[in-house]
Amino acid sequence: MSIDQHAFPVTKTSDSKIKYFDWDHLDFGKNFSDHMFLMEYSDGVWGQGEIVPFANLTMHPAMSAIHYGQSIFEGLKANRTADGRVSIFRPDMNAKRFNESAERMCMPSIPEELFVEAIRQLVSLDDEWVTSREGHSLYIRPFMYATDELVGIRPSRTYKFLIITTPVGQYYSEPVNVKIEKSYTRAASGGVGRAKAAGNYAASMYPALQAQKEGYHQLVWTDAAEHKYIEESGTMNIVFQIGDKLITPDENHDTILRGITKRSVLQVAEMWGVEVEERMVTIKEIVEAARNGSLKDAFGAGTAATIAPIAMIGYEDEKFMLPPVEERMLSNKIKKYLGDLKTGRIEDAFGWNLIV
Ligand code: PLP
Ligand code: COI
Repeated sequence: MSIDQHAFPVTKTSDSKIKYFDWDHLDFGKNFSDHMFLMEYSDGVWGQGEIVPFANLTMHPAMSAIHYGQSIFEGLKANRTADGRVSIFRPDMNAKRFNESAERMCMPSIPEELFVEAIRQLVSLDDEWVTSREGHSLYIRPFMYATDELVGIRPSRTYKFLIITTPVGQYYSEPVNVKIEKSYTRAASGGVGRAKAAGNYAASMYPALQAQKEGYHQLVWTDAAEHKYIEESGTMNIVFQIGDKLITPDENHDTILRGITKRSVLQVAEMWGVEVEERMVTIKEIVEAARNGSLKDAFGAGTAATIAPIAMIGYEDEKFMLPPVEERMLSNKIKKYLGDLKTGRIEDAFGWNLIV
């Protein structure tokens, strides 16, 4: 199927909400643009995708997604470039990951170019919702869920695929305090941790809430078997800088989401000749590095979070403070580079921007 064949039918809203929109009070993910993309799957094929006014959906009380959790999603961003165009960051990567999640959850795949083209056309129509405000973007949320009406357990035979978009600012407004989790588990080997499955987030809420009561913003998950190795954080992957080296848990485990932001961070660092190690990372070595002063930086990497400096790491009864954010030359430089690349202030040397 070539891209030209995906001219999705569009039903435009007669009452754009943009005129009521308060750009000064932007809570992450609470406001939605005027349109959404909708496509339905039945009898083994996807139907005609279309762009329609943003609206509520109806559902059968026995809709299988809400009973058994066959539900996956993606997250990516569109940015306003310095010359007024709109760019979308690495949507092909989200398309691939979406299909990997779909496969693990027994859901149908979506042709990658259709996935990307649907995003492009939706963002193009809701172009005004992409602001040029510093640090702001249009967050794009593709998702798929099972719609069979059945109180029996088997993979659904019908699905809905939607894309909605929401203007956002910073996900974390300050450097984050994270707690290394030793009791609860996000994902075990052989499970669904690598998939961006809705249930992974449901399962992590209770432990995250306990940590929030202790003053933390987020958890750092560790391996399910021994709670000895660092995996990732709640909404982002995690990267450490020990000395001049970037160290991060490798992705050869099916318990870690393969983050697009982290991959981009590492590619930029490697281009600059920074030594990068992707491998098993023990809690012990991070705690030792924090104690002896060689832990120069720790940050989360994610689409919503962008690059989120970690201010403090809590482990058992200890709290390790990290250097002030101004001193973190490497991650600050990477953050600026990626921000400039996405907004067209520097050359897109990697070809990561899809210009709408
Ligand atoms: N890990 C988890 C659990 C996430 O929810 C996210 C956010 O998408 C990430 C990592 C970072 O992935 P990405 O950089 O592709 O957004
Ligand atoms: C993202 O960064 O895209 C995520 O999925 C995190 C989400 C919890 C907002």
